[in-house]
Amino acid sequence: MSNTGDPLSIKSVTLKNRVGMSPMCQYSSTDGFANDWHFVHYGSRAVGGTGLIMVEATAVSPEGRITPFDMGLWKDEQIAELKRITEFVHSFGAVAGIQLAHAGRKASHDSPANGGHQLSVKEGGWQVVAPSSIPFAPTDFLPLELEKTGIKNIVEEFKSAAFRAKHAGFKIIEIHGAHGYLVHEFLSPLTNTRTDEYGGSFENRIRFLLEIITAVKTVWPDDLPLFVRLSATDWAEGGWNLAETVKLASILHTVGVDLIDCSSGGNIIDQKIQIALGYQVPFSEAIKKTGILTAAVGMITSTEQVSQILENEKADLVFLARELLRNPYFMLKADKNAVWPVQYLRAKN
Ligand SMILES: Cc1cc2nc3c(=O)[nH]c(=O)nc-3n(C[C@H](O)[C@H](O)[C@H](O)COP(=O)(O)O)c2cc1C
Repeated sequence: MSNTGDPLSIKSVTLKNRVGMSPMCQYSSTDGFANDWHFVHYGSRAVGGTGLIMVEATAVSPEGRITPFDMGLWKDEQIAELKRITEFVHSFGAVAGIQLAHAGRKASHDSPANGGHQLSVKEGGWQVVAPSSIPFAPTDFLPLELEKTGIKNIVEEFKSAAFRAKHAGFKIIEIHGAHGYLVHEFLSPLTNTRTDEYGGSFENRIRFLLEIITAVKTVWPDDLPLFVRLSATDWAEGGWNLAETVKLASILHTVGVDLIDCSSGGNIIDQKIQIALGYQVPFSEAIKKTGILTAAVGMITSTEQVSQILENEKADLVFLARELLRNPYFMLKADKNAVWPVQYLRAKN
């Protein structure tokens, strides 16, 4: 049984408590670069006592961005600004992680603040790629079906981004395998209708993710944790489901993945999702039974909810997203062992 304020050691890394900041795209970058917004945004949650700061979906290539404003790590010049963030986060006793992503057929959109429609090449967008040429929305442009060389190139891009993440000082990498982005598109039979070794059987659909993990592990130190975020279900008939997620989690455990971050959905436009408080926690509970560490996420908003999840051993870690946007200092109250910044001590009692 664990509690909110308990440390969690994974390989050589110790999180000071059991709450992480869930990755959240800020759509605030130019040419993939982090900037002052990101420094303040991530720095505030570290000051606020959050144990793990997971930097938003960071594209491994320009084409892998959801929007032209996404964070990226496809060139060395992007390392320095991220290093400034990791150093600050670590100076407050939090651990900095980064989610590496490729948006696949859901790339090339305008930012949500601008309406989020898919951008044509003329509007500054680009040709999107996917395992199969099936658009997400009927109004989207047709994705280009990836050839094997294209698949290998993207695997290499994940590896290069992981190498840069190490140099930027991150201590955890999370591969984004959820929410209908490229890895998830390969996993689900609804978005992957390939007939080669990357499609069809379960073993073939998970191949792309396993290749990414193998490649990342050649550059990511053995003593640093590797997480994978998965959508535990497509919430759609005939789609990727919990049974397949559990089977995949067992395999990921054997290939050196340390934790599954248990999300759901995002792959199919007409998913039948039932959202409620803690609605994804049962996925974490089921996946945890395979023996791998898990994180629960989604509609978790109170200290009571966090402690119930941990005390009932439904997850090893809890990720908060929107609650931390509302309250960056959540953990200063929730973690009784929280070390308040000296500058804020007069507000403690
Ligand atoms: C503004 C925003 C941006 C997000 N960006 C990402 C992302 O970059 N990667 C990801 O895996 N999930 C992303 N998500 C999903 C969150 O990480 C989280 O899983 C989801 O919001 C559910 O948690 P919550 O109920 O605590 O907000 C985003 C959510 C929000 C609100």
